[in-house]
Amino acid sequence: MSKLIRSRKGEHIDICVNEDVNYSYNFFDDIEFVHDALTDVNYDDIDTSTTFIKHHLKHPFMITAMTGGYPEAKTINKRLAALCEKYGIAFGLGSQRAMIENKGLTETYYVRDVAKTIPIVGNIGAAQLFQYDSTKINDALKSVDADYLAIHLNTLQELVQPEGDRRFAGLKEKIESVCREIEYPVILKETGAGIDRSVVKRFAGWRPLIAGVDIAGRGGTSWSKVEEYRGGIAGPFGEWGNPTPACVMEVANTGIFTIASGGVRHGLDAAKAFALGADVAGAARPFISAYFKGKLDEEIELWITYLKRAMVLTNSGNMRELGRTNVIITGRLADYIKAKSMING
Ligand SMILES: Cc1cc2nc3c(=O)[nH]c(=O)nc-3n(C[C@H](O)[C@H](O)[C@H](O)COP(=O)(O)O)c2cc1C
Repeated sequence: MSKLIRSRKGEHIDICVNEDVNYSYNFFDDIEFVHDALTDVNYDDIDTSTTFIKHHLKHPFMITAMTGGYPEAKTINKRLAALCEKYGIAFGLGSQRAMIENKGLTETYYVRDVAKTIPIVGNIGAAQLFQYDSTKINDALKSVDADYLAIHLNTLQELVQPEGDRRFAGLKEKIESVCREIEYPVILKETGAGIDRSVVKRFAGWRPLIAGVDIAGRGGTSWSKVEEYRGGIAGPFGEWGNPTPACVMEVANTGIFTIASGGVRHGLDAAKAFALGADVAGAARPFISAYFKGKLDEEIELWITYLKRAMVLTNSGNMRELGRTNVIITGRLADYIKAKSMING
């Protein structure tokens, strides 16, 4: 079993770096800021710091979950985590399933030695909660010195994956019991198909139970397209999912800590997500691509530059002010939000 998980994680990286597995439409392109020709903000005075649940971030970004569980993952995780520490951003470990199955693989996830201060988010698939009890998950988080646990929902990916899970009924209750039993705050996460408000609200007493939501919506990496490269049949499901910006608006509106991710390509997309109410903006594939190009520092510097440019041009000196900035929404995203509001009521 664990050999299968190891080779799968390696294949996922290869496919994500070398193939076109993006959704065909990015809904951030339907959002525009109103340019403020008379800004009152100096570029060098901008404050991009924010809060990640209980942690302070120098920049409001996160590299979201990708890898762990095979030899090269150790190098990748350390390099990404060191980058996050250098720039004061959050870091997500890949699914810890492999190290729960085989404790010898723990070192491929351990990054605290290079990331002493930033929030480190552990990771497990919701479907795996049927296999592992809370003690096992708690121990896995402890052994990598994580600060939070992301529980990922990835039904679409599992359905397309030839060897994927097919059992989903009862997941909500499993998640609720893990939230109650482990010592770490839980972030509910998708992997590219997006969490909308209705999912958050289905959890009983969700406010204290779930510490945050990582949207991971539609617009960036399509996990059904990834699985097609591994023998699955995605067909029309290659484009399935909830658009990231629409989910961000809905979920952030509930007041829960919200990570905007899924198709956030750069600092300007991130700025748009903050204007919609997100607390932090995250991405996965842009950073693994930059890793293999040897351009990680350049990539994150550009994210910061684009964010700060957007802040100057909208007269926003800090993240609170950016969050209050108005945006214009047109095109498919405007249609989608209007149609969805009729369902949401
Ligand atoms: C190579 C790769 C591996 C991933 N592995 C995981 C994982 O183990 N657990 C998880 O929750 N998400 C995983 N993801 C999903 C990402 O964290 C993210 O939610 C998704 O890719 C959408 O973001 P993006 O459009 O910026 O890539 C992975 C993504 C990539 C690119």
